[in-house]
Amino acid sequence: MAKKKKKILVIHGPNLNLLGVRETSVYGKTTLDEINKNLKKTAKQLEVTLEIYQSNSEGDLVKKIQESMGPCDGILINPAAYTHTSVAIRDAVSAINLPVVEVHLSNIYQREEFRHHSFVSGVALGQIAGFGPNSYTLGLKALVDYLNLAG
Ligand code: DQA
Repeated sequence: MAKKKKKILVIHGPNLNLLGVRETSVYGKTTLDEINKNLKKTAKQLEVTLEIYQSNSEGDLVKKIQESMGPCDGILINPAAYTHTSVAIRDAVSAINLPVVEVHLSNIYQREEFRHHSFVSGVALGQIAGFGPNSYTLGLKALVDYLNLAG
């Protein structure tokens, strides 16, 4: 019998729907659609399935993280501004007991001081920041590698 493919939930937080037009000097000109297309290509190579979700609302993000319990094997998340403010998202990540990889397009440690702290990183498997759109594909590879090693 064919092995069931692992399922990864990709979560994009607030304002990431504006990628391509938003602060292009920081985030570049790649749109969220293009990032998602690249992720789907990488997922195919890695033989995993993806569900992709974007929301500007903290409550909706918490709900989606909670709902991943059961159907998903791991989460790739860019919590965007909620990285630096949301205990609720941290608690949701903590609660689900799944490996979560946190990604950021920009190197948050080279930016304003308020971006240096992430509420999510303390409960994430790891964090990748500063590689632009590649942060997502690198994060997906790291997560799938981890899942494959874990069996
Ligand atoms: C971001 C960094 C955050 O500080 C910021 O609020 C974002 C995007 C990034 O991908 O670099 O919206 O998460």
